[in-house]
Amino acid sequence: MTKTTGRHLVIIGSGVAGLSAALEAVRLGSQVTVLTKDALGDGNSKLAQGGLSAVTVQGVAAGDSVQAHVADTLKAGAGHCGVNAVQLMCAAAGELVATLEDYAVNFDANADGSYQLGLEAAHSAHRILHVDGDATGAGLIDALRQAVRLAHKAGQLEIIEYALANGLEFADDQLRGVSYLHDDQELVLETDAVLLATGGLGSLFTASTNPAGATADGIGLAARAGAVIADAEFIQFHPTLVDPLKYPQAGMISEAVRGEGAILVTESGDRFMPAIHELAELAPRDVVARAIHGQNLAGHRVFLDARAVEQKQGAGFLTRRFPSISARLKAAGLDLAAQPIEVVAAQHYWMGGIHTDTKGRSSVPGLYAAGECANTMVHGANRLASNSLLEAMVFARQAVRAMITDQAGRVCDTSQLQLSELPPAKNDAPLELHQLQTLASEHLGVHRTGQGLQSLRSVLESSAPVAQGRRELAELTNLWITARIITQGAIRRTSSLGAHHRLDAQDGQQAAIRYGFRLAQTKRSD
Ligand code: SIN
Repeated sequence: MTKTTGRHLVIIGSGVAGLSAALEAVRLGSQVTVLTKDALGDGNSKLAQGGLSAVTVQGVAAGDSVQAHVADTLKAGAGHCGVNAVQLMCAAAGELVATLEDYAVNFDANADGSYQLGLEAAHSAHRILHVDGDATGAGLIDALRQAVRLAHKAGQLEIIEYALANGLEFADDQLRGVSYLHDDQELVLETDAVLLATGGLGSLFTASTNPAGATADGIGLAARAGAVIADAEFIQFHPTLVDPLKYPQAGMISEAVRGEGAILVTESGDRFMPAIHELAELAPRDVVARAIHGQNLAGHRVFLDARAVEQKQGAGFLTRRFPSISARLKAAGLDLAAQPIEVVAAQHYWMGGIHTDTKGRSSVPGLYAAGECANTMVHGANRLASNSLLEAMVFARQAVRAMITDQAGRVCDTSQLQLSELPPAKNDAPLELHQLQTLASEHLGVHRTGQGLQSLRSVLESSAPVAQGRRELAELTNLWITARIITQGAIRRTSSLGAHHRLDAQDGQQAAIRYGFRLAQTKRSD
């Protein structure tokens, strides 16, 4: 290590949140270790297609504004967002773009050097920056990982790969370290400041756009340490995953394809979105996902049809604009320019998470969170497209600044939450991953019912995760804890809001109520 100042920070996770946090710590001269369960940069961020929403100087000249971005985010979030956090994020986007360019991120540009700005659902302006057409996450991860590797080579930070964090250590109520599994050994890293940047929970569902490693690890760690998890009932489903039963490798088709004009039709060619929402296929994501799932429940198949886009823009347009998607589809024997592609709604993102303030502080001293595992309240009940990479990087950098300067004991304010505790589970029936995925997909999906949720709760509370291998068991336990928290949130919210849709709902919005949960009788270092 070179000269360092202040506390030794530990960052768990290496998606865009973890990597940008690490670089901010290096910039500020702090001692920092990145602990990541697979190779540096592996995870969900690098799969992000659509892009990074940001109002740039160019956007302002074309009539866009930070306030319009704020308004779109609040509207998509169904009135459930934290307004201050949204304003902070949208205002920080321009500066973040400049910082990313300093780290050699090349956003797609026109011949005159201006950004190519895409449009996505529920945005009132073209403001989506992208890299290599539809490989924005990969472009960001490549650049940030390279910068982190260089900093490592220069002795400015430590990296521990293939290390699954599985416990936070406390002494006298003070955070003292992180225990982790590495080469089947349990080791401890001493620290009094941890940033959880562990990503999402896609592995809870049978159909998800996330990679298998999205196992809610940060949620399991934070919940066992007594941190408050909030907004858990809000899970986002992406409308257009290529039918995974028929084409398991084809993956998701970015919303940006609908932004270019693609439409959704049934097997008989009927377009159904204009009758459901004034923005049709560009309605907020929860609306489109529900409409597709509704068609499936009514016995219809749903297809994404981009043929007219290719006809209008000229042959080869879709391949040029969406090279990665086109290549994946081609490998599966499909052609976006020539045929409608069958799609389903699939789990994509979680708006809930470890409750934080705008400095990334959780409710446990010394513990911070950023990225998908955090609940900054930016996304409300439904995240606006392409706000996730932005949120992850803006608040990861905020968190690092606070980790360096915070006095001991600083925590976020949870007084606006209706808090409750989850009772201890009875742990008598063995529960394997595939069983948990089937249960969650049935009861925590696009449509939910009170009865289904109650039955899910009783199964989860009388079960014990079982898996072969320590890593597999730790990941399944994290998913199981998270599923219990989500179920509790979904039971408490008896009316529909944003991505939480109760088929048995009493009408009436509950936007003002924000639920938070803790595990009961938590032993901080268990
Ligand atoms: C997409 O490209 O459709 C996904 C973008 C996002 O999840 O924000």
